[in-house]
Amino acid sequence: MASTNDFSYLVSAGPTREWIDPFRFISNPSSGKMGIAIADEVYKHSNRIKLLHGVIDNSLLKDKAYECKSCETTNDLLRAMEKELSSDMIIFMAAAPSDFRPVSYSDQKIKKNSDRINITFEKNPDILMHIAQLKLSGNYKNMITVGFAAETQNTENYALSKLKQKSLDFICLNDISKKGVGFAGETNEVTIYCKSGEKILIPMDTKVNVAKQIFHNVTRRI
Ligand code: CTP
Repeated sequence: MASTNDFSYLVSAGPTREWIDPFRFISNPSSGKMGIAIADEVYKHSNRIKLLHGVIDNSLLKDKAYECKSCETTNDLLRAMEKELSSDMIIFMAAAPSDFRPVSYSDQKIKKNSDRINITFEKNPDILMHIAQLKLSGNYKNMITVGFAAETQNTENYALSKLKQKSLDFICLNDISKKGVGFAGETNEVTIYCKSGEKILIPMDTKVNVAKQIFHNVTRRI
């Protein structure tokens, strides 16, 4: 079994933001708290940790002793993550990157002079899938990828298909239809699915305690 000191750690947290015009953007309600709780837990075991985060409440990052870097768009986060990758690294991808961005950005504020507006969005890259592909193609061979899956229905099926499609080592399922689970609150409940087929339930608890369980369950299995 590897030791937690054998690895460096990259944690992502929070939502990315895609601007439509200087006044409006598309994003999601992720608070970043789950990712920050994981980064805090990692830092108890290793100082080789970096947090890359989307647009979150800065007070959540006050007094952090580890390095934190802000990224606005999904492409910014992708580029920032690519710069940090190394082989002996565990990646906890708790961020909620925006899946789509507007095809075009309006330099001027869009005026409300019609009753309807059509905005065309295009797909953003899937950061985790891209990173897992780099590993599959022979780069960063010892890298461990831990994804999250936010689901409202067919939760186990969707989580398992993300584990497989994205070629991950672990995926942590959040059933966000359940009270107390998911984005902005202080608590969470997670089921970890491992590439090996193992399934671990982490019961409802504070995000801090859930983060501790995620960290220990993942690192114990490496
Ligand atoms: N993720 C990513 N890049 C994206 C979108 C998601 O790396 N553009 C990561 C998330 O950080 C998470 C995992 O992929 O670790 C699953 O994210 P989730 O939002 O649950 O699902 P999606 O893959 O975006 O698929 P869908 O929205 O169709 O459920």
